[in-house]
Amino acid sequence: MDLYEYQARDMFEAHGVPVLGGEVAETPEQARAAAERIGAKSGGVVVVKAQVKTGGRGKAGGVKVAKSPEEAQSLAAQILGMDIKGHTVKKVMIAQGAKIAEEYYFSMLLDRANRSYLAMCSKEGGMDIETLAVEHPEKLARIEVDPIDGLNAAKAREIITAAGFDEGDWPALEHVLVRLGAVYAAEDATLVEVNPLVKTEDGQIVALDGKVTLDNNASFRHPDHEALVDHSVTDPLEVLAIEKDLNYVKLDGNIGIIGNGAGLVMSTLDVVAYAGEEFTGRDGSHPRPANFLDIGGGADANVMANGLDVIFEDAQVKAVFVNVFGGITACDQVADGIIKAYEILASHGKHPKPLVVRLDGNNAEKGREILDGAGLPQLERVDTMDGAARRVAELAAHAV
Ligand SMILES: Nc1ncnc2c1ncn2[C@@H]1O[C@H](COP(=O)(O)OP(=O)(O)OP(=O)(O)O)[C@@H](O)[C@H]1O
Ligand SMILES: [Mg+2]
Repeated sequence: MDLYEYQARDMFEAHGVPVLGGEVAETPEQARAAAERIGAKSGGVVVVKAQVKTGGRGKAGGVKVAKSPEEAQSLAAQILGMDIKGHTVKKVMIAQGAKIAEEYYFSMLLDRANRSYLAMCSKEGGMDIETLAVEHPEKLARIEVDPIDGLNAAKAREIITAAGFDEGDWPALEHVLVRLGAVYAAEDATLVEVNPLVKTEDGQIVALDGKVTLDNNASFRHPDHEALVDHSVTDPLEVLAIEKDLNYVKLDGNIGIIGNGAGLVMSTLDVVAYAGEEFTGRDGSHPRPANFLDIGGGADANVMANGLDVIFEDAQVKAVFVNVFGGITACDQVADGIIKAYEILASHGKHPKPLVVRLDGNNAEKGREILDGAGLPQLERVDTMDGAARRVAELAAHAV
């Protein structure tokens, strides 16, 4: 889960990273009131910052300096509702204005390929770190951080010296980096990025921006992270899937996909996308997968029912492909699950959509017999993965 800048700011503050005052506002009036409080600490100057989960806000006109609460209000009115790379600005942060002497860059992230963490740091921070990394890679220090040791004082010193900072700045930078490392470890982050990390005119090192990505796999350790979830921007189908404890990702096509095992579901997406190329719907587009849904190895009837329920809720879905390779849960149990799913859906007054089922593996024959015997409406059985993908693409393309 990515955090908004204001959430990252609060998290930094809680872990002792130096930050400036900041308050979030959802209306120009709230922005004005916040600017009155926040500006009191910085001679009336505040910065109005669009809160969206994407980079390049400054360049898009989403970061503006205001010299009075009135100006903050009118800038907030401009920025709220703005579209930045497809993200609508619903909140702004009113940040205390800093007198910046220098802008630096720091980040730490999960380096999967090296099974390690990677810290990156540069004396030349600001808005164009991606360009700097490409054109002047020597100006971006890249230091591996051992996950067991974490970002300790010695490692912080190594990063700072590699980035070429003056000795006078070492103690303050070391402190800030160690605190940022503490955020990373204590909150189970996979990314902590500060761009810019600044030196103010009076020599303080302060985090002026913050990007944090939290590891959802660790959310069970952080009940407080639930409060950071922004349900207003999460797809409602994904919210429903989370409630039902399903491994679901919404995609933009019209063929619902259910499979058991992430690998099988991923290859099903590929095979369906490929088969879809052969067909064209009335709107001229090719049928494509509408979602990823892995019901796992030990799926029972309820999981199948929940999965079908979420997929049938998706108005874009025209046809569904259930692709199961029986293993621990044998195909006859899966077939029972599909029948039960239909019963549960019918009891909620919901109608099924065209469904193509491919069963293979453990007890495949038995499963197929059960399905055939049940005579479920709109259900077809195809025994090969390619054949089933082709059929479901055809159904989706021909659906009204
Ligand atoms: N509180 C502040 N006081 C003074 N200047 C600021 C403040 N916050 C940001 N700035 C200036 O605005 C620039 C852009 O701000 P920020 O880094 O937060 O947004 P951004 O880099 O455009 O967004 P993103 O990091 O999402 O690409 C900073 O590099 C800094 O010069
Ligand atoms: Mg930035």
